[in-house]
Amino acid sequence: MKNIVIKCETLENTKKLAKNFARLVNNKGCFVNLFGDIGAGKTAFVRLTAEALGVKEKVTSPSFVILNEYHSANIPIYHFDLYRLEHTGISTITDELREYSEGKKITFVEWAEFSQGELPFERIEINVTYDDDDSRIYEFKSIGENNKYIIEGLNQCGY
Ligand SMILES: Nc1ncnc2c1ncn2[C@@H]1O[C@H](COP(=O)(O)OP(=O)(O)OP(=O)(O)O)[C@@H](O)[C@H]1O
Ligand SMILES: [Mg+2]
Repeated sequence: MKNIVIKCETLENTKKLAKNFARLVNNKGCFVNLFGDIGAGKTAFVRLTAEALGVKEKVTSPSFVILNEYHSANIPIYHFDLYRLEHTGISTITDELREYSEGKKITFVEWAEFSQGELPFERIEINVTYDDDDSRIYEFKSIGENNKYIIEGLNQCGY
């Protein structure tokens, strides 16, 4: 199983989804690409996952600073937002991104569609779409074999 689509009709549902996701990635870590329009719910998912993992600091959007990192949970968390870099800028940090995909850490990357072809590593892609008001659709896809267990785990918990 490589894909799962989960509808979150409220922010509370997204919180439950993030909790389940956090439990699944807590041991091994994961490299996660998030796609979706402005305001879809990419940062909201990262924030809720980081909180579920035990991050103590306030989790904010890294859109101006490009990278936020959190070291107060039992696994390090890195959160990139590449929106401001645009196409050419992103190709200059591909090697750095690759390093963030290795070892026991969780790395989230928003707005990486610019560099899709340059991200060959094992990862989870999350596509977020706005449904209406507080309803959002989260689609999870495993790229490569290593993260299929996450999709299967999410399938078992429902949210
Ligand atoms: N079910 C839901 N799931 C996620 N977010 C929700 C939900 N309902 C309402 N929201 C709200 O939608 C907004 C999503 O904004 P967010 O910053 O996460 O978007 P984004 O995809 O990161 O956008 P950007 O491309 O600007 O970074 C938040 O204000 C969040 O509280
Ligand atoms: Mg965001």
